[in-house]
Amino acid sequence: MGFNPIVFEAQPGVGGLWNHTNKTTKLQTPKQAYQFSDFPWPSSVKEDFPDHNQVMEYIESYAHHFDLLQYIKFNSRVIGIEYKGASDEDMASWDLWGGTGASFSPLGKWNITVLKDIHRKSTQVYQVEFAILCIGRFSEVPNIPEFPPNQGPEAFDGKVIHSMHYAYMDDADAAKFVKGKRVTVVGIQKSALDIANECAMVNGVENPCMVLYRNAHWSFPHYFPWGVPFALLYFNRFAELMTHKPDEGFMLSLLATLLSPLRWLQSKFVESYLRWKLQLKKYHMIPNHSFNKDFSAGTIAVTPENFFQRVEEGSIILKKSATFSFCKNGLMIDGNTAPLETDVAILATGYKGDEKLRNIFVSSKIQKNIFGASNTTVQLYRECIHPRIPQLAIIGYSESFSNLFTFEMRCKWLAHLLRGTFKLPQIKEMEVDALRWEKYMKDHSGQYYRRSSLQGYEMQPET
Ligand SMILES: Cc1cc2nc3c(=O)[nH]c(=O)nc-3n(C[C@H](O)[C@H](O)[C@H](O)COP(=O)(O)OP(=O)(O)OC[C@H]3O[C@@H](n4cnc5c(N)ncnc54)[C@H](O)[C@@H]3O)c2cc1C
Ligand SMILES: NC(=O)c1ccc[n+]([C@@H]2O[C@H](COP(=O)([O-])OP(=O)(O)OC[C@H]3O[C@@H](n4cnc5c(N)ncnc54)[C@H](OP(=O)(O)O)[C@@H]3O)[C@@H](O)[C@H]2O)c1
Repeated sequence: MGFNPIVFEAQPGVGGLWNHTNKTTKLQTPKQAYQFSDFPWPSSVKEDFPDHNQVMEYIESYAHHFDLLQYIKFNSRVIGIEYKGASDEDMASWDLWGGTGASFSPLGKWNITVLKDIHRKSTQVYQVEFAILCIGRFSEVPNIPEFPPNQGPEAFDGKVIHSMHYAYMDDADAAKFVKGKRVTVVGIQKSALDIANECAMVNGVENPCMVLYRNAHWSFPHYFPWGVPFALLYFNRFAELMTHKPDEGFMLSLLATLLSPLRWLQSKFVESYLRWKLQLKKYHMIPNHSFNKDFSAGTIAVTPENFFQRVEEGSIILKKSATFSFCKNGLMIDGNTAPLETDVAILATGYKGDEKLRNIFVSSKIQKNIFGASNTTVQLYRECIHPRIPQLAIIGYSESFSNLFTFEMRCKWLAHLLRGTFKLPQIKEMEVDALRWEKYMKDHSGQYYRRSSLQGYEMQPET
């Protein structure tokens, strides 16, 4: 659209988190739904779920095809961004975003401080009229559980790492790291399932991998429950009508209420298949909540191939415990007096994407605006714009079934906003709208609402 962006990228190349994945990481989303709208996957990629190398190649070829590398400054970590312009008091009195409602306002600029040389700690400050944060939420800032004194990793004689550090290792080093060791993986989402599966492939039944989890979640082996395409159940306009959503109006609300038994049936249909196919009862793995809840919250994962066969043969052991702590020889869990003897603990406990976002702002006032209270979401109008932070957008914070697709749609929306095709509503209206979506997330995602997932309410192209 005729802009001249500068992209600061901390790593030496494109691809983001796809540069550091586990050996067996693949797309969980079918490739037809995980593609740029103007750049289909090459015909040489036959798989519906390409592996991490293929995803990297796809992203790299996109950057080359559209000649994007010319805009990117690699090895350039942004260590802080600071709004320079109107005072906090003036900003508090604004009715319109940025004071004028325009994306490019004469009232302020952003100073972007970039670390140019990590060894000499030399920095350079760039001044820009608009900043877009695309820093990812599943990397760099791990969620490490907190423990009482002397019950954390410091009390343990073995090694403790986060799943992120396992993913950073190359494949051979990762296998060497777990080989012949008693490994406990904490968590039972996608990182945990994949790592446990890889450990079991390396160690077999001699050294089973323990998976310690506190809440079971639905996971699915493929997208055809009882032979019915998942997209027919969830990713179409009819399925959308079954979901209550903000600002839906009387007729749509009535329709969603009338269709709620169908929504319930849809969930039970998938659950019945997963219970049967994965024999969840046998492994005490039936979640306490519905499939639809996990689906809306974005807390479902694709089960790695043969995962439950490995549980059956004994190379993976599943253990449920609401809490855990460390001792000299391993991990203490609820109801056990002896520790789970362990050499290596891998915390597949997720990330603190909100902290990562907060910390990039220099101003404590803006940090507070972004992070909010612990019982709120990061409030973004259209999942892009914070009503109280001018001349700035965030792409990549809220989750969906196919992030690449929804991120791209937001990028298009944002580009039109920057071009002036449309104007944002008043700050108060955007805040009310963001609050409505927060309520939606709380209603549909339960305790996981801070993931800001819109997965339960999404249509996908070509699925
Ligand atoms: C292992 C894994 C697999 C996934 N698989 C799927 C999937 O199958 N389907 C799906 O829809 N989603 C998947 N996701 C979700 C994934 O987050 C998105 O699909 C997408 O790849 C995220 O892209 P991003 O650009 O927002 O973030 P990232 O890929 O994390 O990229 C952020 C970039 O910002 C850079 N950066 C960060 N901070 C700074 C800074 N301060 N200064 C300069 N540069 C900085 C980083 O170096 C990085 O290159 C997966 C996530 C993970 C962790
Ligand atoms: N395509 C792929 O193959 C792939 C691979 C890896 C990751 N991903 C994506 O990357 C994102 C992050 O996935 P992730 O698996 O790393 O993290 P995650 O989805 O946030 O899961 C974190 C896990 O850790 C548990 N946990 C968190 N804090 C804990 C604590 N204090 N004590 C015990 N358990 C705790 C959670 O349990 P509770 O549920 O009880 O909170 C959950 O099981 C997701 O979007 C995922 O889809 C994709």
